[in-house]
Amino acid sequence: MRPETSEWLASGRAVLRAATPGSRVERRGRVERVGDGVAMVSGLRDVRLDEVLRFAGGQVGFARVLDPDLIGCVLLDATTDVQAGDAVFGTGAVVEVPVGPALLGRIVDPLGRPLDGKGAIETVARLPVERPAPSIIERDLVTEPVQTGIVVVDALFALGRGQRELIVGDHATGKTTLAIDALIAQADSDMICVYVAVGQKTSSVRRAVDALQAGGAFERCIVLVAGPASAPGLQWIAPYAGMSMAEHFRDAGGHALIVIDDLSKHAATHREIALLTRQSPGREAYPGDVFYIHARLLERAARLSMARGGGSLTALPIAETVAGDLSAYIPTNLISITDGQIVLDAGLFHQGQKPAVDVGLSVSRVGGKTQAKALREAAGALRLDYAQFLELEVFTRFGGAPEGRVRRQLARGAAIRAILRQPQHAPLRLADEVALLLAVQAGLLDALPPDAVAAFRAGLPAALDAAAADAVAAIDATGEMDAAARDTLMAAIARVTASLSDRGTDQATAHAAPAAAP
Ligand SMILES: Nc1ncnc2c1ncn2[C@@H]1O[C@H](COP(=O)(O)OP(=O)(O)OP(=O)(O)O)[C@@H](O)[C@H]1O
Ligand SMILES: [Mg+2]
Repeated sequence: MRPETSEWLASGRAVLRAATPGSRVERRGRVERVGDGVAMVSGLRDVRLDEVLRFAGGQVGFARVLDPDLIGCVLLDATTDVQAGDAVFGTGAVVEVPVGPALLGRIVDPLGRPLDGKGAIETVARLPVERPAPSIIERDLVTEPVQTGIVVVDALFALGRGQRELIVGDHATGKTTLAIDALIAQADSDMICVYVAVGQKTSSVRRAVDALQAGGAFERCIVLVAGPASAPGLQWIAPYAGMSMAEHFRDAGGHALIVIDDLSKHAATHREIALLTRQSPGREAYPGDVFYIHARLLERAARLSMARGGGSLTALPIAETVAGDLSAYIPTNLISITDGQIVLDAGLFHQGQKPAVDVGLSVSRVGGKTQAKALREAAGALRLDYAQFLELEVFTRFGGAPEGRVRRQLARGAAIRAILRQPQHAPLRLADEVALLLAVQAGLLDALPPDAVAAFRAGLPAALDAAAADAVAAIDATGEMDAAARDTLMAAIARVTASLSDRGTDQATAHAAPAAAP
């Protein structure tokens, strides 16, 4: 025997000695038919709901429908690679995603695979995408505010940590922008942000990412994208995967904010999968469990008790309406699941009132109690004044020059409307919002034309930093405002408005002069 042969024989014997012979159970089924991201599988009897199935070619999917002889498996990979007749294996595992701080500042797909070309993501922990929501005893009351930096939200529909607030409106009414602005406002806060894009156009996701980067919040964010062309299974698990990534921070005692853009697209994907797996369709052809899958998802947002670490997860799901119809199936479901809704109105948007929040239809059910004291004082009777103004405005539209009290009310209302307008991606600090509201309450903006109010808002932060830096810092830190801070703010505000009204009268006389000449 040649020496190499005997060496080879010896190593072969060693391998044989080390091997323990025995039987291995392999659960094996067969693909019956496949199409549009769903494979129907036979021969796998003891598969669990949501169990991962592996196909002969290495592709994976998860079991969504368990009929006695056919299993509906939703694919997480491209359908074209799976064919009828292929072997399928049960894995006993459920779908999991990587979680942890390594994901911050990254763009990933719903399985946590990087999409930004910045290399592998080194995480140690994994969590299932489907997790039970915290029970009642594990929860605490919502007591801390979420500062969104959007005046109309913080002043009128304050949000609390652990709340679920729906953002709902027609196509292109600023839903994504509102949510992204709330994330940008967290750039200097202790909140971790997760933005989940389900079935959104690549251009829209790109704009959101650019805005987060420009706003300095990107390093606190995880962006999870399942594009319209990705497998329906990926779009389906995206919100759940995002929740698990956010829950990791919540469970460690931290605070997280998740935006799900949007659940209408998610519901459509759910309907598509249900129709392909032959589940019976119900209202608007959605299967009956669409309410349940969204309730189970949003139930995971919570403020945890101190015994569970006191963390929180706030959710801002988005839904799209058609022609403002809030009574459609998916919007009504989501309105009843969440703790309130911010309704965006296409009419207001086209009149230039942006963010186009419909003040009459929007509501925040638990966040009001958490509103910073300074803001509550400064807001005063804002909502009432504004509601009265909107009614009055309708009557006075039919002509006549209002006098006295009505005229003053109209001027105040117009000033409120002007301060509720806000450019995109420019969230304000708490102190800026307080100062804006104080200025309205004191009537300092009533005489200004609407574009001067925009100039006032734009110049306010710098003016406050120059003249009232201590008061600003105190309000931002404590959320409260003492008499001295209030006086300092008022003095700074008065200076800005005075400079603006000088400019306003100059312009007015300049306009008036040529008209008067002939
Ligand atoms: N506050 C704002 N100020 C100025 N422009 C805004 C404001 N909010 C939104 N916009 C603009 O309005 C357009 C639509 O906004 P956005 O994409 O957020 O709407 P959407 O409701 O999410 O739309 P879609 O239905 O396509 O998801 C964008 O071009 C955005 O820049
Ligand atoms: Mg959008």
